[in-house]
Amino acid sequence: MLSGLRLASAFLGVLALGFCSEALAVRKPSPVTLPFARRFNSTGATKILEHDQARAKALKARALAKPGQLSRRIIDNDPVTNQAVDYVATVGFGTPPSEFTLLIDTGSSNTFVGVTKPFEATSTTVNTGQLMEVIFGSGFVIGEEFLDTVTLGPGVAIQNQSFAVAIESSGFDGLDGLIGIGPVDLTCGTLFPNTSACVPTVTDNAFAQGLIDAHEVGISFAPTTSLETTNGELTFGGIDTSKFTGPLNFVPITTTAPASEFVGIDQSVTYGAAGTTVLATTAGITDTGTTLLLLASDALATYQELTGAVLDENVGLLSLTPEQFGNLESLFFNIGGNTLEFTPNAQAWPRALNEAIGGDANSVFLIVGDLGSDSGEGFDFVDGMTFLERFYYVFDSGNNQVGFATTEFTNAETN
Ligand SMILES: *[C@@H]1O[C@H](CO)[C@@H](O)[C@H](O)[C@H]1NC(C)=O
Ligand SMILES: *[C@@H]1O[C@H](CO)[C@@H](O)[C@H](O)[C@H]1NC(C)=O
Ligand SMILES: *[C@@H]1O[C@H](CO)[C@@H](O)[C@H](O)[C@H]1NC(C)=O
Repeated sequence: MLSGLRLASAFLGVLALGFCSEALAVRKPSPVTLPFARRFNSTGATKILEHDQARAKALKARALAKPGQLSRRIIDNDPVTNQAVDYVATVGFGTPPSEFTLLIDTGSSNTFVGVTKPFEATSTTVNTGQLMEVIFGSGFVIGEEFLDTVTLGPGVAIQNQSFAVAIESSGFDGLDGLIGIGPVDLTCGTLFPNTSACVPTVTDNAFAQGLIDAHEVGISFAPTTSLETTNGELTFGGIDTSKFTGPLNFVPITTTAPASEFVGIDQSVTYGAAGTTVLATTAGITDTGTTLLLLASDALATYQELTGAVLDENVGLLSLTPEQFGNLESLFFNIGGNTLEFTPNAQAWPRALNEAIGGDANSVFLIVGDLGSDSGEGFDFVDGMTFLERFYYVFDSGNNQVGFATTEFTNAETN
């Protein structure tokens, strides 16, 4: 039934492309849903903050460099750090499709495979003759750029999708590659020798080929207490209304650079019933490739002062005594005039995973961390996955906006 609908809408999509754009308006919604999993690498766990900070620094530097210049592919001497926590989905490449386990990333937009499992060319594989290079701060990848069919789910085969096959990479252990679902502008200047080319993302091509009828991706994930869980859902071309409870409110992508190059938004953050300002309204990014909620150093200092949290050197995260945790109040995120409450439980690292990150079972660690630079730089926070998984999150690239809604997990005491 579902795949029948998808086939029908794909057919209508081809008609729409070929004949008239009016047909687009009558096409039935055809979202494609990909399950995704959270994985946890306990040996790398103390590196969570280090990894996230290195990534934030590299993303910011990359966005500030001019497109098409070597400097866009900055050389960063920071040590490479593997992801301790990652969010992955399985995607098919080639004809027939071979499956690869890819990191889901709204903070970058190139797609690549072949890091762990080798990519074998098939009858539909075309070598573009270009090389691709992206540096993440927490890692890098250099690959050969190919065109091929990319299959997101039954009946959803995107033709001529451009992606790289890794030749050399670092920081992606345990992964086959990455599916970049951020803004397409992030791909401009990543190819060589044609440094003026950009690379349409899977969302762009699925939409252009009429496989989905909305130029957006909806993301749902439930906070969990176990090491590995597949309860995330990535919906291309639509939203899954069964996954959220409150209204879905959209805000435009921020106009402040460099956050404006990403799935960036403007937000302010206050603490507790008194409404004490932690972070005055400023620009930052939402990012599925970051684990923690990172706040500019000055904002984090205010948060520490308000909560009494101190950095646990062994674990690498802020910690609270049980008594301090008992007094912890909610953070309130004001995004586009709407307020999202981020409860004390949401601020805590899942206690069932304390020992897995080298901490005491009875301690309370926090997922709020230091961005590593002060506010005022147009990139003053990163709302990473431990923030996003408390809400339904939509990147509507067609309308250059981001949506948030409360879910049944927003106030859950899971942690
Ligand atoms: C993909 O590329 C092939 C070869 O250039 C072309 O024949 C085909 O029409 C393209 N498909 C789409 C959907 O653009
Ligand atoms: C886990 O992390 C360690 C340390 O960073 C790394 O050496 C190892 O390759 C990682 N394993 C996976 C499966 O990512
Ligand atoms: C480089 O890419 C641009 C943008 O896609 C394209 O217009 C141009 O023809 C390409 N140049 C070469 C030499 O392929």
